[in-house]
This record gives sequence, C-alpha cells and structure tokens, in this order.
Amino acid sequence: MNAPTRHPATPASLSALDAENKRVIMFGGKGGVGKTTSSSATALHYALAGKKTLIISSDLTPSLSDIFETPIGPSETPVPGVDNLFALEIGIDEVMRRWKEKFGPQIYAAASVVVDMPYDEIIDYVAMAPGIQEEFMLDFILEHIRGGRYDMVVWDTAPAGDTLRLLSLPGRFLKHLRTAPRFYFKAQDILGVSRTQFLDLIGSWTTLSEEIARFFVDPANVEFIVVTIPEALGVYQSRRVIEDLKAHGLTVRRAVVNSVITDPDSAFLRQRSAMQQPYLAMLFNDLGADSVILMPLLPYEVKGIARLREVERILFRTE
Ligand SMILES: Nc1ncnc2c1ncn2[C@@H]1O[C@H](COP(=O)(O)OP(=O)(O)O)[C@@H](O)[C@H]1O
Ligand SMILES: [Mg+2]
Repeated sequence: MNAPTRHPATPASLSALDAENKRVIMFGGKGGVGKTTSSSATALHYALAGKKTLIISSDLTPSLSDIFETPIGPSETPVPGVDNLFALEIGIDEVMRRWKEKFGPQIYAAASVVVDMPYDEIIDYVAMAPGIQEEFMLDFILEHIRGGRYDMVVWDTAPAGDTLRLLSLPGRFLKHLRTAPRFYFKAQDILGVSRTQFLDLIGSWTTLSEEIARFFVDPANVEFIVVTIPEALGVYQSRRVIEDLKAHGLTVRRAVVNSVITDPDSAFLRQRSAMQQPYLAMLFNDLGADSVILMPLLPYEVKGIARLREVERILFRTE
C-alpha cells in the first residue's frame, strides 16, 4: 500500500466539533493509550467554553480522581476550580445495583405472576441476561443528557472490547428477552392476562432499547473518537474497533494518536519517530489527515488542571 506519509500542513484538531453541537463524545481504545487523558481534556474544553459538562468514566480502573486530583465516585461531583465541570466514575457493580433499584419492582411485578420465585432470585435471573449491564450503561449515559441536565457528556469508555459489546448489545439482549416468555410459559400454565403483562414489559424494553441504540448510532448526537498510539498493536487494534463499530452502524470519523514523537533530538527518539511514521501514514490513509489528531509524547504525566489545559490546547488548538 502506498499510503501518504506526509503530515498535513495544518495539524488536525478537534475544534471542528465545537460547531457540531453533539451531546455525547465517547473515547474508546485499548488500555493505557490515553483515553482518560483525552476525555478529561475534552471535558475541560467544553466546561471552559461555558457548557455544563459531565465526564463519566466507566473504565474499571479508577483514574478520574488521579487526573483531577480530587476524590470522584459514582455520583456527580463538581471538579474544584473549574466552573461547569462535573465528573463521575461508575463500575459494573454500581451499574447493577442501580439497575436493580430502577427496574426491580417492575420486573418482579410482571414476572412473579408467571413464576413462583422469591424477589431476589427473579431479579438476579433477569440481571444475568446477556447485555443487560451494557444496556443500563447506555441508559445511564442518556439519562444525564435528557431533561437538559447537561449540555455535554464526555464518556471515557472501558477498553475496546467492552465498548464493542455495548454496541452489539441491543440485538443480543432483545433476543434473550424474547425467548424468556416462552421459557416461563412452558414452565407454568398461566392465564392470558399474566402473559400480556409480561409481554408488555418486554415490549416496553424493546422500545427503550431501540431508542437507545438509535441515539448512539446517530452522528447528530454522538461522536466516537478512537484513541490510539502509532505502533503496530495500537493501530491494528483501532482498525478492528473502527470496522466493528461500522458493522454496528456507528462510523468513526476521528482518531487521537497519542505519544507521537514530535521533536526527535536524539538517536533514540529519531529511531522511535521513524518507527511511528508508517503507522501514522496508515491512519492518515484510513481516516483522512484532517481527522487524525496528533498528541505529542510529553515529558511528564498528565495530572491536574494545568497539565490538562495543555493537552486541551493541543487537541483543540486553542490559545
Ligand atoms: N501525551 C502524553 N505524554 C505523556 N504521558 C501521557 C500522555 N498521554 C497520557 N499520558 C500518561 O499515560 C498514562 C495513561 O494515560 P491514560 O489517559 O490514563 O490512558 P487510558 O485511559 O487509555 O488507560 C497516564 O499516566 C497519563 O498521564
Ligand atoms: Mg483510563
């Protein structure tokens, strides 16, 4: 393949997003490439622009507390020193707890008429449905957008595999739910009215699930940005992510390439920079040079608002 190796004359940036009025910006990619750093700098960008912004990290490795240097937990916390910026970190256990709280009574009311099982057993059984956790995560994200609570939600997703599961989910989940009534009806001979109640519940979940899926694949609402590094593993993996998302109806239009050597002033760095060039060329070729945002390898770790501001300036080319 004769990919163009030339860097664009004007470096690409995320600033074109400013005019697009998206509601959710998702960052995905493998572990350690800079998802949390890019997400946090992006959230800071929108907060500084006066938008009420929430950054949500669903990665199991806690990290927002480190980067913002303040304790951040599963409920919305204002980031000290930055107006309009709120953060939360939510793991799967908390997602499940909230899901049970939200849907438990409804599920029990509908299911208990067809199966004679204790509350916890019914809820736990349904909670094991494939994809239900992901479903809740999407619903959770959407909830923060609905009703105008936030202008912008920046979502620091868990490493790629999970993100993919998220988007392939509505189909799998609904298939499971559709087979559930058959299972229950076989288990017990029941009255038509109970059947209707259970089918109604599944019907409303189907609608909800389809609504959520539609929101997330609509480029008017959501931007999915792949974060990667210019090395074989990073680039091949992000190509797979881009392909898979495409298969689920979601087009990735931008990538942040992190840890780019921009100032190779030693033999060591020159060698590393040369190693990176073909991978950068591949990304330019795949996405178009205007859609590949380069983030230099910095001599320090990105921690605290001042450092994040530097990253924000690079990603958005602000002054
Ligand atoms: N451009 C960069 N230069 C130097 N260090 C970076 C850069 N980007 C990220 N880091 C550091 O690399 C580590 C991993 O980044 P992080 O954003 O947490 O990755 P991820 O969320 O993808 O696992 C962090 O310690 C972060 O400060
Ligand atoms: Mg992270």
